[in-house]
Amino acid sequence: MRPTNRSFFTHVILTGTLRLFAASVWITLPAAVLAQQPSSETATEHRVDDMLSKLTLTQKIDLIGGVSTWYTHAEPSIGLRSLHLSDGPAGMRSGIPATAYPAPVALAATWDTVLAKRLGAALGSDAHARGVDILLGPGVNIARAPVSGRNFEYMGEDPLLASRMAVAYIQGVQSQGVSATVKHFMMNNQEFNRHHASSDADERTMREIYLPAFEAAVKDAHVGAIMDSYNLVNGTHSTQNSWMNTDLAKKEWGFDGIIVSDWVSVYDGVAAANAGLDLEMPFGRYFSQETLLPAVKDGRLAESVIDDKVRRIIRTALRFQPPDTHPADSLFSEDSDAVALEVTLESAVLLKNEKSILPLSFARTCTLAVIGPNASPAVIGGGGSAVVDTYKSVSALVGISDYVQAHAAENGRCRPRVLYDSGWPANYDVFAATRFDHGLRQEVFHSRDWSGAPQTSQREHLNEDRIVSAPGSSIRWTGTFTATRPGNYFLIVHDGRVADKHHVFADGKELTSPRTSLIGELYYLPLPAPLKAGQVVQLRLDYLPNDTEVFPGLGVLFEEDILSDRARSIASHSDAVVFVGGFDKTTEHEGSDRTFSLPLLQDAMIRNLAAQNPNTIVTLTGGGNVDMRPWLDRVPALLHLWYPGQEGGKALAQILFGEHNPEGKLPVSFETAQEDNPTFHSYYPQAPANAEEPHIRYTEGVFLGYRYYVTPSANPSHIAPRFPFGYGLSYTKFSFSDLHLSSTNLHPGDPLTVTFTVHNTGPVSGSEVAQLYVGEQSPQVPRPLFELKSFTKVNLKPGESRTVSLYLDKRSFAYWSLAKKQWEVDPAHFTIYVGDSSESLPLRGEIIMHDEGTRK
Ligand code: BGC
Repeated sequence: MRPTNRSFFTHVILTGTLRLFAASVWITLPAAVLAQQPSSETATEHRVDDMLSKLTLTQKIDLIGGVSTWYTHAEPSIGLRSLHLSDGPAGMRSGIPATAYPAPVALAATWDTVLAKRLGAALGSDAHARGVDILLGPGVNIARAPVSGRNFEYMGEDPLLASRMAVAYIQGVQSQGVSATVKHFMMNNQEFNRHHASSDADERTMREIYLPAFEAAVKDAHVGAIMDSYNLVNGTHSTQNSWMNTDLAKKEWGFDGIIVSDWVSVYDGVAAANAGLDLEMPFGRYFSQETLLPAVKDGRLAESVIDDKVRRIIRTALRFQPPDTHPADSLFSEDSDAVALEVTLESAVLLKNEKSILPLSFARTCTLAVIGPNASPAVIGGGGSAVVDTYKSVSALVGISDYVQAHAAENGRCRPRVLYDSGWPANYDVFAATRFDHGLRQEVFHSRDWSGAPQTSQREHLNEDRIVSAPGSSIRWTGTFTATRPGNYFLIVHDGRVADKHHVFADGKELTSPRTSLIGELYYLPLPAPLKAGQVVQLRLDYLPNDTEVFPGLGVLFEEDILSDRARSIASHSDAVVFVGGFDKTTEHEGSDRTFSLPLLQDAMIRNLAAQNPNTIVTLTGGGNVDMRPWLDRVPALLHLWYPGQEGGKALAQILFGEHNPEGKLPVSFETAQEDNPTFHSYYPQAPANAEEPHIRYTEGVFLGYRYYVTPSANPSHIAPRFPFGYGLSYTKFSFSDLHLSSTNLHPGDPLTVTFTVHNTGPVSGSEVAQLYVGEQSPQVPRPLFELKSFTKVNLKPGESRTVSLYLDKRSFAYWSLAKKQWEVDPAHFTIYVGDSSESLPLRGEIIMHDEGTRK
């Protein structure tokens, strides 16, 4: 339960809005009014000083380390409560089920800042209902490569998009009297060796790409907390990086909240304390009396440095103090669920829709097959600290089935049906169908290492039958298998008991492919290379039972057989197939990166489905792009769902049947091949790979994502993304016209208004994201051809058009000058581009930026 000691400050709550409690009515005053209340801020500061002055040094040190996983120390003697912190970016993880919103990358795909603020407010109220003071989100690290394990927790590749979405999200959270936490400061763009790897970039790259979202969170949204990352930045742990924490965040940006460590990311207490870290979580392992008292005594750490940290903690406790939990506060919130659904609906990106196969119509679709590993149970989010336990989650299968049943009456042709199968071939059938050339030789050794004279017998199959051996045995099966068709083969191994261990060898080589995964106790291991017809493979399974009885299985599966018989049959008897696959919380999570390929056999499953039914619609979950080469040209439609949260299935059905027109736009470029990504060669540390602090050098500099693809000097081979940044199809069409610039001659800092018209030229209502990019012509320092500087979302009825205006400021034209160590706007010609993706910018205008010295 939330600590209730909040008597000293229950009448004024400062949260970006000022809320006054008077005669049982909460009056909410806008932020502008708050800005005119310096006396409140001053009163808070007096109060902070007063509380601080009553503390001893040891009490102060106690306050800057957590007391348990989610709580800070309380200090009842000065009326300071314990602060309750909780994940996370896509829903509360406070030990109580909660609404699971779509992942932050999905939020970014909505490009809807108004909705982002509503999502933030919903999260804030969920947090408040659970007595949480500090929400550990949003995450704003920029996507460098699709394999980064936490991309789903972040907001894509563009700093402006991430900034705008994060600011709105934070304002929403903080409107509820709960502090947000922007994380992970900074350059946590890979999960490789995350406690030791150093992300290295020059200051310009950091200022232009990796810092803006943090800067905006502080300067525009007044975020209450910043979380330092695990990784090092330019060789210094984030928690010890005084340039980041003190010079930049606190001094330059004016951050007066708490800089908190990630959970166990402090490596040197005195260095972190001096560098500007304020709070070590989850425990004061280094921010402890044992470490810090001697440092204060011998002058390595000034007491004033500790005072500053305590001041920030007290200030945060005073600032973000929601009213005591109201008796009517509910842990289950229909309002939050409704926001989750809205974000999901807006976030799905339709990437391919040939022959307008979507939306599905009941006139054409009597029988719909829903097939795939992620169709049921619901896949709502990625793994790690962002996991949310929900009261309900709608799987794709249930969402589609409910929708079809509810609309059954609309179908005049037949009674609509939804048929389902996971698609996985039944392992038992595979084991039974596998033909080893001369059966399998079984050897049971009376040792734990397959040594000594075995007891040998012969088997036809290894079919999960019960095999009993003496305690302390090891078992080996050997045999050969001959490929009947040319292509890729997989071994399936059933490991009968949790603690059993096994090793699988093909032609003497152990199969340890990274694509080996576990489904229950089933392992799928791809053979390293395609086989020719007639090729013989030597197989060996070394098995170490944990018990005297085991239930092992071994089978061989040809890629074209990777589909259950039932799935094959229902796919061929259905009007269309919806494949639901992609990543989930076991295959994409913090702590490690993921593959670019879809997990485990899904490529083959999609190809085999498409061969059964040409109307196969692929829907994917995941934090970003995947390798689509194995199947994209064989399927007519592709819908990317990111991680859709608890309402995923419901939203999917509405989109598939056209009740909601897709409106998501990619917040990240989707490359064709992993090698196309400009970070491909520098994404992991160059040699020596086993160094204690491997360095990951961001050699692409500012030419990341679309900035790389569109800039000829950076991308001389003109590699094009498969689907560009900002791209997303709709069931209607839009056009752009009538670009007007408020001025074509500017001096740095002069405002510019860009006006244009968006027209819905298609048959249904829909939303378009108008994107404005700015590029300097012939820049003196290498710059991207253009960069996103503003955007807006427009909802239009068929035939309707709207004139919109976007505003550009000095920073819209600036780059970070390494020489001058400041933002610079060159006197130059700039092109203004407007359109609906980084590769589709039909409107262009030009302005001349004059030298500041020529201003009259
Ligand atoms: C994650 C943070 C999270 C924290 C607390 C860490 O492993 O990196 O993002 O907020 O755990 O759960």
